[in-house]
Amino acid sequence: MDKHHVEVLLSEEEVDRRINEIGEQISKDYAGKNVHLICVLKGGSFFLCELAKRISVPVSLDFMSVSSYGKDTKSSGVVKIVKDLDESIKGKNVLVIEDIVDSGRTLSYLMEMLEAREPESLKLCTLLDKPERRVVDVKVDYTGFQVPDEFVVGYGLDYDQLYRNLPYIGVVKFD
Ligand code: IMP
Ligand code: MG
Repeated sequence: MDKHHVEVLLSEEEVDRRINEIGEQISKDYAGKNVHLICVLKGGSFFLCELAKRISVPVSLDFMSVSSYGKDTKSSGVVKIVKDLDESIKGKNVLVIEDIVDSGRTLSYLMEMLEAREPESLKLCTLLDKPERRVVDVKVDYTGFQVPDEFVVGYGLDYDQLYRNLPYIGVVKFD
């Protein structure tokens, strides 16, 4: 690991406040319905837990783990399902929960694959969005924050598997 330090980009309070807002919005948008949250592991897990607690319509959960083929993990665009969902999503109102949309490759592949399983509806909620890095167009329905093109960690996001547990969003700065 290169020598680095982490600087705060979004404080715990800011993230908390924004998740409250998104939770309220989702509760309104899904009023009278159930929502089936699909968490993309591992990055989406912290956001999923915080968000799910703030949704007032009935919530069910499932988890999925994906990885990119090839060594250039960020740009191959081919996604391998490492852990598939436990339950069918057919006829459900599915909301995918992600940590960050970067190039958009992972999500565009994943959303297409999920759509083919015939959910009643399919939406995407991401804590962070790096629009400058987008290569493949992805429709994002709920976004926590747009972030600049820097490497961010915390709230589920890692640098070499570390920092996922930070209660804020930080930027990795190389010394
Ligand atoms: P994609 O390029 O949109 O396919 O992003 C794929 C994945 O790369 C995300 O789900 C994250 O796991 C990871 N990723 C992208 N940018 C960052 C970052 O700044 N910090 C940590 N992980 C990132
Ligand atoms: Mg991820």
